[in-house]
Amino acid sequence: MAYSFTLYTGAEIPSVGLGTWQSEPGVVGNAVETAIKAGYRHIDCAQLYGNEEEIGFTLKKLLSDGVVKREDLFITSKLWCSDHSPEDVPVAMDLTLSNLQLDYVDLYLIHWPFRVNKGSICCPENSVPLDLPGTWGAMEKLYESGKAHAIGVSNFSCKKLEDLLAIALVPPAVNQVECHPVWQQAKLYALCQSKNIHLSLSVFTRVDYSLMGLSRAYSPLGSPGTPWMKGSDAINNGVVNSIAKKLGKTPAQVALRWGLQMGHSVLPKSTNEARIKENIDLFNWSIPEDLLSKFSEIKQARLFRADFLTHPEGIYKSVEEIWDGEI
Ligand code: A2P
Repeated sequence: MAYSFTLYTGAEIPSVGLGTWQSEPGVVGNAVETAIKAGYRHIDCAQLYGNEEEIGFTLKKLLSDGVVKREDLFITSKLWCSDHSPEDVPVAMDLTLSNLQLDYVDLYLIHWPFRVNKGSICCPENSVPLDLPGTWGAMEKLYESGKAHAIGVSNFSCKKLEDLLAIALVPPAVNQVECHPVWQQAKLYALCQSKNIHLSLSVFTRVDYSLMGLSRAYSPLGSPGTPWMKGSDAINNGVVNSIAKKLGKTPAQVALRWGLQMGHSVLPKSTNEARIKENIDLFNWSIPEDLLSKFSEIKQARLFRADFLTHPEGIYKSVEEIWDGEI
C-alpha cells in the first residue's frame, strides 16, 4: 500500500490525513504538531471549523523550526456556504491563507452543495439555489492563480458531481465524502467504474472527463464521538471488531485500512496522542482477501445525513434531496 495517491494534477496526496473537524482551538495546534511529528503530512482543514488560525501558528512554527518542509505537506481547506458568490470566493481563500499563514493550499474544496447569501446566518431557511458555474468558475481562477494547487468538492452526490462535470473547465480533483465500512459509497463507486475511474492505488486518476479523483473519506471511523450522527459507528461494528480481533489490530485501524485498500485517502480526526499514532500505523500489514470480502456483509447506513440543511422553505426540503436519493 502506497503512502500516497497521485492526483491528476500530478501532486501526491498522502493517503492518511489528520481531520480537524471538532478539534477545538486550544487543542488543535497540539494535535497537528503531534501528527506531523508522528509522520502525518496531510492536514484536512476548513474555514468553518474555526481553528485555522491556531493550525497556522503551529504550521509556521514547525516550518520555521525545520521539522517539516512546506513542499512535503498537503494542506486542504474548504469554502464555506456563505462564500459561494464568485466575488466572495477569492476573499474566503485569502482569509484561509492568512489564517493558515500559507501562500497556497494543496487542495481547496467547495464544502457543501449548499449556499446562503453572504452575511446571512447559515440556516436552511436562508438557503438559495446553487450557482455552480459561478462558484466553480471562481474556484478555477484560484487554481489558475496558484493559490489552490488543486480544487474539488465535498458532499456531492453522483448527480451533483455529474452536474458539475458538465460545466467544469478544470475538473474537480476530489470529492470528499463520508466513507467508512458502514457507508461504503457503493453508488459513487459505480459512477467511478462507469467512467473508468480506477479505484485502486491510483484512485485519483480517471480516464475520461480529463482526470479526476473521487474518493477521500471523511468520518472514516463513522465519528464515534458525535452523538447526533445516526446509526452505529464503524468502530463498534461487529464485522469490523471480529476482523480486528483476528488481525490483532484495533477496530479503528481496520476501518482505516479498509479505506486505504479500497483506494481512498482517509482523514481520521483525533486530538489524542496515542490515537493519532494508532491511526497512521497502517502500512506494514493488510486485511487479507478472505476478510476483506466480509465488509460486503455490513448493513449500510449514511450516518452523516445532514438533516440540519433541510427546511420546508429552503432549497432542500428533505434529506433525500441533499443526497439525490443516495441514503
Ligand atoms: P479523539 O479525538 O478523542 O481521539 P471521525 O474521524 O470518523 O470523525 O472520528 C473521530 C472520533 O473518533 C473522535 O471522537 C475521536 O476522538 C475518535 N477516535 C479517533 N481515533 C480513534 C481511535 N483510534 N479509536 C477510537 N476512537 C478514535
